[in-house]
Amino acid sequence: MSTGFDRDRGEFTRGARAVVVLPDQGDGARDAEARLAETAGLAAAIGVSVVEHIAYRVRAPKPATLIGSGQVEQLGAQMRVAEAGLVVFDASLTPVQQRNLETALEAKVIDRTGLILEIFGERAATAEGRLQVELAHLDYQAGRLVRSWTHLERQRGGFGFLGGPGETQIEADRRLIRDRMARLRRELDQVSRTRGLHRDRRRRAPWPVIALVGYTNAGKSTLFNHLTGASVMAEDVLFATLDPTLRQVSLPGIEKAILSDTVGFVSELPTQLVAAFKATLEEVVSADLLIHVRDIAHPDSIAQKDDVEGVLNDIGVDASVPRIEAWNKLDLLDAEEREEMLGEAARRDDVVALSALRGEGVSTLLETIAALLTTAHRRYTITLDAGDGAGAAWLHAHGEVLGQAVEGDIATYDVRMALRDFERFGTR
Ligand code: GTP
Repeated sequence: MSTGFDRDRGEFTRGARAVVVLPDQGDGARDAEARLAETAGLAAAIGVSVVEHIAYRVRAPKPATLIGSGQVEQLGAQMRVAEAGLVVFDASLTPVQQRNLETALEAKVIDRTGLILEIFGERAATAEGRLQVELAHLDYQAGRLVRSWTHLERQRGGFGFLGGPGETQIEADRRLIRDRMARLRRELDQVSRTRGLHRDRRRRAPWPVIALVGYTNAGKSTLFNHLTGASVMAEDVLFATLDPTLRQVSLPGIEKAILSDTVGFVSELPTQLVAAFKATLEEVVSADLLIHVRDIAHPDSIAQKDDVEGVLNDIGVDASVPRIEAWNKLDLLDAEEREEMLGEAARRDDVVALSALRGEGVSTLLETIAALLTTAHRRYTITLDAGDGAGAAWLHAHGEVLGQAVEGDIATYDVRMALRDFERFGTR
């Protein structure tokens, strides 16, 4: 049977048989079972078939291999029995640990960051998403130029002339990576400027933007489909959504709103990716309302909520942006838990308990969104004739003018105000 690992190329293929290893460092912050299940889910997202999960107790992490030498031996034996050619470590490995483990186990080893990068690489659908993933990947590889399995290996033939005399292969690779990263950054800049223009154009239209955020597998796409009637890929595959998907939704009392589905968040999101995905998540940063979809039936629901809020904070989402928590997967709770959740949700106006799968609670969510949007303040770009003193005075009286610019006989205002006032302004 093929293990799915090509030793000559140092690559694994779809369908590769993998063992998932959780080095349990005894911090007990998360449920080990749920954590193994999440990693297995992540691995499945790139078409790897997980044949074994093992948790190892690690009292003192070994600089050379993270887990102890006895554990490495035992892992090797398990892999031979399971005919696995790939090991997925649910931890961060140093480049040295990764190389040592690969040598000892004669298999490909990837860590959590590597795994997430692989998934993002497979899922990126837009030009911008692809550029961002490649940039993050190169950044990750730059620190790992210790062996020859990188993609550069195959490209080297074509770029061989770049290496000056006496330059070692690793130096040449580093230089290649640096150059490629600089080029990617320039391309990304260009792409996000173009997207920024589109966004500005939309911003000028009086449609609020609502962004769905949430931990991976929380049910964002399922809810998105329910809310928009669109059919976005909803799979039991993590990160089914990588690039933001925008759809129009109708809400009670609001003519039109735009709903944006975003990439799922995950704990210990590699820092390279937080930075790289900032641009993709710009929809989230500039949204008028956030819906945080939570899998309320998950054993780590609270830790996942903290992770999502941490990422929102990292990417610069303003704390004043109104948020609703959608407590999803209500159908998976037993009667007692369900009553408890429904009771708590009823007491809070920023929480709606629902089942995106069954459609239960979705209409309450729509009403809550509409209510928040009509009262919440948002930013508008408004243009007036430079001589329209009454209009300018109205804006100052009803909104907070954050900036203004006059060009020729057109004055442009950046104003924060309630949707209700914005609509009144239009019909004044
Ligand atoms: P990412 O793309 O990884 O961020 O996932 P997501 O948050 O978009 O989740 P998605 O909608 O793809 O749902 C993940 C899994 O949860 C799918 O198998 C859904 O069918 C399931 N699911 C979603 N909502 C519910 C729900 O209310 N109840 C139950 N039982 N399952 C649900």
